[in-house]
Amino acid sequence: MCGIVGGVAERNIINILIEGLKRLEYRGYDSAGVALINQGQVLRERRVGKVVNLEHAVNEANIEGSLGIAHTRWATHGKPTENNAHPHISGTVAVVHNGIIENYQELKDNLESLGYVFTSQTDTEVVAHLINDALKSTSSLLTAVQQVVPQLKGAYALGIVHTDHPDELITVREGSPLVIGVGIGENFISSDQLALLPITNRFIYLEEGDIARLTRSSIEVFVEGQLVQRPVKELDATVSTVSKGEYKHYMLKEIYEQPEAIQQTISQALNSNALRADFLAEAVADFKSIQQIQIIACGTSYHAGMIAKYWFEQLIDLPCQVEIASEFRYRTPVIVNHTLYICISQSGETADTLAALRDTQQRALAKNLNIVTMTICNVATSSMVRETKHSLLTLAGPEIGVASTKAFTTQLAALMLLVLKIGQVKQSIAVEKMTTIITDLWHTPKVILDTLQQNKDILRLSELFVEKQHCLFLGRGTEFPIALEGALKLKEISYIHAEGYAAGELKHGPLALVDNDMPVVILAPQDDMLDKLKSNMEEVQARGGELFVFADENSGIKGKDRQHVVHIPSISPILAPIVYSIPVQLLSYHVAVLRGTDVDQPRNLAKSVTVE
Ligand code: G6P
Repeated sequence: MCGIVGGVAERNIINILIEGLKRLEYRGYDSAGVALINQGQVLRERRVGKVVNLEHAVNEANIEGSLGIAHTRWATHGKPTENNAHPHISGTVAVVHNGIIENYQELKDNLESLGYVFTSQTDTEVVAHLINDALKSTSSLLTAVQQVVPQLKGAYALGIVHTDHPDELITVREGSPLVIGVGIGENFISSDQLALLPITNRFIYLEEGDIARLTRSSIEVFVEGQLVQRPVKELDATVSTVSKGEYKHYMLKEIYEQPEAIQQTISQALNSNALRADFLAEAVADFKSIQQIQIIACGTSYHAGMIAKYWFEQLIDLPCQVEIASEFRYRTPVIVNHTLYICISQSGETADTLAALRDTQQRALAKNLNIVTMTICNVATSSMVRETKHSLLTLAGPEIGVASTKAFTTQLAALMLLVLKIGQVKQSIAVEKMTTIITDLWHTPKVILDTLQQNKDILRLSELFVEKQHCLFLGRGTEFPIALEGALKLKEISYIHAEGYAAGELKHGPLALVDNDMPVVILAPQDDMLDKLKSNMEEVQARGGELFVFADENSGIKGKDRQHVVHIPSISPILAPIVYSIPVQLLSYHVAVLRGTDVDQPRNLAKSVTVE
């Protein structure tokens, strides 16, 4: 999604802005631009494609300045063209925007009737013209912005500069993320603190509705015209946590970071063989009261929720529903008393999940219902974490690859910790069962490490996928969501059409697709469903399908003609989905690399989907 970087400093900040945009590339984008204020002029450059194109343009034009805004655009209104790229200018005000102005058409009609000429198809351009217009009746840029904001409907974050105000940068947060990076004699803004880590580790997290004025030496935050205080927080993350290191891609690095990431996530909750008393202690009273669970999520996080449903119902007898946030938010679901609503999100900013949460909270309030909200998230400072009563962090560290890997497996680890905690509070899980799962959880990072040793074999298999057009992934039980996740990974980064199915559904449709040319990936841990899965494999082979099987080392499944097998170290069936995520991630990664796609930033996709 769109990314914003801006700054006001004593020094020339063009390189900081460009470097910041590069660090936001992971969010997904299709064009980029920058505007600097210098000696009463707006110096703007915009380019379609990668930030490096913009960097060349900026170098050629040799522009510089100590006040400026920059942007990566992910097209919503209007194609990815140079004219549609931000910043947008009206008079000498320049604006960058992340989000959507929903009532832009009405505003545009009005502005056109006043004589404003639009040079883009974007919703953003109305903001530039509105501020320009407001400046006719005030000389204060802040006041002009404060007058314009109430006219805008939708979700947005803005960065604004003007030639008559060479010492100030105005920023707005209303529904899209924005942080202020606090420097010494200089201050910055960005959609994500990662962009500013090379310059500072001190941040102010703006709240919805905040409008801020930054100068070189001051930061003022206003809510409805009143000055408010926002705390400055220091962040632990360092620049090195967001570099590729020895790896060719972030995705590969993040796949290999999973043993450590899972270790971190479970360490916050576990002693050697029990849950720590302080783990989610503040939520115990709420957990006692809940009678069912509703999970809301999108994409890969939704698949994590699907697995948790099996766990909640099978292990602690608690009814659990899971739904895609974009459906949940619009279908007026019944809000049920004593339900724990869990948002799962690596970013904590996904527009649909956030909207579903807010809508649920409002409706529960209106009906005086007693519900509890919780977020499972990888970003401690995110909107979702702030807006739910409880939160459980996946301590995966920054994830840059658009295709989620370590954020997903740590979500699974966190969800299992939550299942155990609620089971303990409700006394619905036997102590011995809990101890066994905890022992197995501690063992999981090592099993993942051993699974990563199969990388070479998986690379060999991936060579057989390069020319394929389609692929099926099959699994049963908690491996069904892993089949969906494997298919999602393969399509998002290699652009091969892939479908995930519950293997029991084979005869109800997908078997018709199976022929000599159809690779079928099978997830075969050592569980109660293994024999049934073996029958499904026979059905595929009988129709000439080629099998690629990730099978437990004790499953008895062996390689043969048109049946390629990679053995996966044994793991208890309940935790198998965590481990079986690894081979499907590696398979997709290698296929994508062999096909020459942009692994970390697949076309048309974004990491942080802050518009619906
Ligand atoms: C995007 C990302 C996916 C992610 C999904 C949900 O599509 O590319 O990796 O699973 O959004 O995002 P969330 O941050 O809510 O987990």
